[in-house]
Amino acid sequence: MEAGEKKWKTAITGHVNGEPYVRGYNLLEMVEKLRFTKAIYLVLKGELPKENEEKMLNAMLVSCIDHGLGPPSVTAARVVLSGGNPLNAGVAAGVLTLGDSHGGAIENCAKALQTAVKKGKPVTDLSREIVEKARFSRERIPGFGHRIYITDPRTEILLKKAKELGYYGKHTELAVQIEKDLEKALGKKQCLNVDGCIAAIISEMGFDYRLGKGFFIIGRVPGLVAHAFEEMTREKPFRRLEEEEMAYDGPAPRKLP
Ligand SMILES: CC(C)(COP(=O)(O)OP(=O)(O)OC[C@H]1O[C@@H](n2cnc3c(N)ncnc32)[C@H](O)[C@@H]1OP(=O)(O)O)[C@@H](O)C(=O)NCCC(=O)NCCS
Repeated sequence: MEAGEKKWKTAITGHVNGEPYVRGYNLLEMVEKLRFTKAIYLVLKGELPKENEEKMLNAMLVSCIDHGLGPPSVTAARVVLSGGNPLNAGVAAGVLTLGDSHGGAIENCAKALQTAVKKGKPVTDLSREIVEKARFSRERIPGFGHRIYITDPRTEILLKKAKELGYYGKHTELAVQIEKDLEKALGKKQCLNVDGCIAAIISEMGFDYRLGKGFFIIGRVPGLVAHAFEEMTREKPFRRLEEEEMAYDGPAPRKLP
């Protein structure tokens, strides 16, 4: 049967003459020669990265690796382990928390930035349009705002790297301009957060916005594995909230009719 007639097709990987290939490169040769970040870029983009592309991707992935016990992904991974489940269940639970408010703002922000930049207007006009629209509809612009930070330090370092490595163009300029205009419109800073910053940089690097959340997942999974393992090996099972941490505010006790 010809490849074109087969039901399952992939351009990512396969066996040729009994040897495993990924995007046309021999996997065994990759094992010998390729750093992990280069291999990640290769599977995602289809080609090997140039030196600066690898450095930029590496910095973005490291920025996602962990960020304290508080975020939903880490809490979920540890709680699932605590219930007596295996490592993979905890890691999967952590990944499942990644949504519009945690790690998942990347794709929506990248979509907004890529759509806007395609219009070819000056960045200041594009930013004004995006902020006015958001304020009018009372919507939150994905990639802006943070529960803890006034300025997200991860954004600062990633933007510095983007400048050094040549990925500070229209998308990153637009993201930075939106941060300024949003502050003026709200009277309060809602910083360009790490999701928004990664969204701008992956757009600059020519990635499809629909891959957005994938970058956060790839970066965060090692952290989740470490947390799941620590919970398994260091903590007693069955973690639960203490009484002083919770409150019942439903109806007062009453009799069934
Ligand atoms: C992260 C986030 C949940 C933090 O929210 P918060 O600190 O509770 O913000 P507040 O609820 O105090 O918001 C204060 C004001 O800023 C506005 N605001 C907050 N984030 C905004 C955003 N991204 N775009 C536009 N307006 C925003 C709110 O609408 C609110 O305005 P209002 O008083 O006129 O209603 C919020 O900024 C958000 O949803 N951001 C978008 C999603 C995102 O990027 N998530 C990734 C986080 S790393």
